[in-house]
Amino acid sequence: MSSYSRITGTGSYLPPKRLSNADMVARLAQDGIETSDDWIVERSGIRARHFADEGVFCSDLALHACQAALQAAGRSASEVDLIIVATSTPDMVFPSTACILQGKLGAVGGAAFDVQAVCSGFVYALTVADSLIKTGSARCALVVGAEIFSRILDFKDRGTCVLFGDGAGAVVLEASDTPGILSTDLHADGRHVDILCVPGHVQGGAVSGVPLLKMAGQAVFKLAVGVLEDAARAVLSKAGKTEAEIDWLVPHQANIRIIQSTAKKLKLPMDKVMLTVDQHGNTSAASIALALDVGVRGGLIQRGQTVLLEGVGGGFTWGAVLLTL
Ligand code: UT7
Repeated sequence: MSSYSRITGTGSYLPPKRLSNADMVARLAQDGIETSDDWIVERSGIRARHFADEGVFCSDLALHACQAALQAAGRSASEVDLIIVATSTPDMVFPSTACILQGKLGAVGGAAFDVQAVCSGFVYALTVADSLIKTGSARCALVVGAEIFSRILDFKDRGTCVLFGDGAGAVVLEASDTPGILSTDLHADGRHVDILCVPGHVQGGAVSGVPLLKMAGQAVFKLAVGVLEDAARAVLSKAGKTEAEIDWLVPHQANIRIIQSTAKKLKLPMDKVMLTVDQHGNTSAASIALALDVGVRGGLIQRGQTVLLEGVGGGFTWGAVLLTL
């Protein structure tokens, strides 16, 4: 049994179709709905997002991200004994997207399951994988955040449809004798189910309710800025580290204003914060893993550095992971 789990490779994938804010303005105008590049940039920091083509599923995006992560780690799919996919936009009601992904990867025999914690999904999944590795249940895990939010957007609701995008990010997490994941902190508050939800379910061969994303933006915003600081301080305290020891903050990419507020509270300059929200939009469970991979492949985030991951989203859920890369 190993004392630690450590990230040995990262990967990500964005579907090729990229929509700028101007493209969204034109798309909404077809339904007589007004929006503008200025509004979207000023309120969210988003300039573009990627949408998957019809016929492409969450597991397809995840597959590309996992192949890149495995290659970076120097591992083959046959060595993977655990797959956890964080997603709110699974391929099917069941089986899990993780099982579908496992089949596509050809990684037969290990455990595979999904985690549903919306935009906090990746920190939830990483925490679960860390625990399974530390207890000896797994040695080589693929931890994935993958989403096709374009399928659940209401393009008649300008307050939400301009904010989200599709994509996937993955890490290989392995048993290690040297510290990798240092501390984790997860929370939920089910009193706030209604402020960010897709209020539909399958019943008798049809969808009952509304299978489209609904968000009370300001309520989510207010809760997010408070809990993200608390989660960051909790993981620092558990690991016996201070905010000055953080090399990189890799936050959930929902809104530049939420990210700036968290960085300010932690006294972190913005050049220590990974930002992809401008180019990816909010990719929910995929966003942290995507941003981590962009930072690693861009040579910004390096081995041995202390990295704080944190996410917040529907549920209401939130959490953080502090790690040495
Ligand atoms: O990923 C999970 C976590 N999610 C989040 O963290 C999202 C948190 N919330 C937010 O990021 C922000 O609340 C939003 C970006 C969603 C909205 O920003 P806001 O500053 O809270 O704007 P608002 O909802 O208060 O809307 C302000 C105005 C309204 O007009 P009136 O009522 O003041 O006349 C909206 O109708 O902006 C209007 N508006 C738009 N105008 C142009 C809303 N959407 C648009 C739009 N284009 N797309």
